[in-house]
Amino acid sequence: MLPCIHQLDIFNLRNIHHAALKNFATINIISGKNGSGKTSFLESIHLLGRGRPLRGIEYRSLIGEDDSFSAVHGVVGGENQNSEHSVGVSVAHNGKRQVKIDTKEGVPIADLVHVLPLLVIDADTFSILSGGSGLRRQFMDWGVFHMKPSYGSRWRAFNRCLRQRNRLLREKTTALAQMLSWTNQLCALSQEITLHRSEYIRDFLPLLRETAMAFGGIDDVQLEYYQGWDDGKDLANVLEYSFERDQRSGQTHYGAHRADIRVRIKGIDAAKILSRGQQKRLVAAMRITQGKLLYQQTQRTPLYLVDDVPAELDATYQAFIYDMLQSLKSQVFMTCIEYNNTLQAYWRPSTMIQKFHVKHGEITQY
Ligand SMILES: Nc1ncnc2c1ncn2[C@@H]1O[C@H](COP(=O)(O)OP(=O)(O)OP(=O)(O)O)[C@@H](O)[C@H]1O
Ligand SMILES: [Mg+2]
Repeated sequence: MLPCIHQLDIFNLRNIHHAALKNFATINIISGKNGSGKTSFLESIHLLGRGRPLRGIEYRSLIGEDDSFSAVHGVVGGENQNSEHSVGVSVAHNGKRQVKIDTKEGVPIADLVHVLPLLVIDADTFSILSGGSGLRRQFMDWGVFHMKPSYGSRWRAFNRCLRQRNRLLREKTTALAQMLSWTNQLCALSQEITLHRSEYIRDFLPLLRETAMAFGGIDDVQLEYYQGWDDGKDLANVLEYSFERDQRSGQTHYGAHRADIRVRIKGIDAAKILSRGQQKRLVAAMRITQGKLLYQQTQRTPLYLVDDVPAELDATYQAFIYDMLQSLKSQVFMTCIEYNNTLQAYWRPSTMIQKFHVKHGEITQY
């Protein structure tokens, strides 16, 4: 079960003024009434692992109403039993974020992700199937990013290049030939990103099919990968043809930034054919499969943040989720309104559980 959080200090995060917590278990259950601070607890872990809020990038939403900054510090179990990292992330009112890992200050946010791979299952996760393509790109990129160490730098280079090309397009005075160097880089990086993503999807699909079947008989799941321009066409040619359109709108219409994975069941868009409950099951299966694949390929388990799942799924499928999370041996932080006998019954006797209760932003461990 690595990595995992051993210790957590939260300062001024939403309604949590201060909390100093330790002795976490594999499964950590956070109970409390509506508005007590359960999601805020998960927000603190998300800030620690991703450097940003669970939703969007409005960092100021994290800072307590009367405070000038939010901060979280964690002790995180590392790559092996003997290594631990001390991680600190703070966000100030002016939007400035600071990250410290061990003794290194000013660490890039991107480095956090490798220390604490996080996966979230919450109400928003369920829009992966029906929402915009950006959500599905994030989904793929999470996997690729954790499995291919060079991917992050290629992805950042691609985005730099895209920004430059779009800037020139918006000037409207730059001819296609004058932006050739950016276009060529964009094409080369798009090819590289596409290769990594399609390898990820290739490895992900068989595991997903297995999980989706076990998870409630959703069979014949297909993933159709769209690379961001028509298959079999040369991206440089495609960009040449779309130059006038690109210039009119000031943006590049084709490339790796337009990629998508279409999730289909028996050839039909999953968002159209599955009921809402089935979509939730499929998305939960997709998240769990990401954890399985990460473990298969790197022997690391991601940490799961699970918010409000009982409210979203019926008892049979809650049982599936909890069972799969236990099989993965990931550290899990999950919320519920009340810890009751039904919830208790989901856990195997060998699973270590720690319970927390939140009331008006005060967290107690019991
Ligand atoms: N920046 C902030 N500063 C202070 N309080 C905040 C801030 N942002 C949100 N809150 C408040 O913190 C409280 C806890 O919110 P949180 O989302 O953690 O509740 P919750 O326990 O998850 O509730 P639910 O069961 O409804 O999901 C809410 O009353 C919310 O309005
Ligand atoms: Mg909540």
